[in-house]
Amino acid sequence: MSDAELPVHDLLGGEVITAIVAAFYRRVPQDPLLGPMYPPHDLAGAEHRLRSFLIYRFGGPPDYLAERGHPRLRMRHNPFVIDQTARDRWMQLMLAAIDEVPAAAGLRDYLERFLGDIATFLINR
Ligand code: HEM
Repeated sequence: MSDAELPVHDLLGGEVITAIVAAFYRRVPQDPLLGPMYPPHDLAGAEHRLRSFLIYRFGGPPDYLAERGHPRLRMRHNPFVIDQTARDRWMQLMLAAIDEVPAAAGLRDYLERFLGDIATFLINR
């Protein structure tokens, strides 16, 4: 999907993204596979990084770039063992998070494809 087709009107403001990412990070610490990968004392920071990346990526304010520079997501995920199982678990938690946010219902299929493609690209083992 090209950027021109991004559902920017729904995602630009960031409120839906903020709700989804919060719901995702409520699940992360409880997950036996993904939980241990995330920094236990900086989950709020991790939540902020994913939220600001997605807001930037969907055409909102580019705070992520100012704070973190070019995303370089493959390099930044290299320390973590991401096999097909970890990728699928990440998507499972993310889709559960999306389903928790009523305002995201119409975006579910789009987000599943968009995030799923990146998740597949991040498989490194
Ligand atoms: C495929 C399964 C994935 C796993 C296991 C995973 C795991 C992680 C972990 C453990 C971190 C470090 C947390 C932190 O301190 O920031 C992280 C960071 C991050 N992840 Fe993922 N991730 C996955 C997929 C994705 C996807 C699909 C995206 C984007 C749509 C994404 C975007 C990010 C971003 C933006 C950061 C912060 C990078 C930075 O600025 O340092 N991740 N991820």
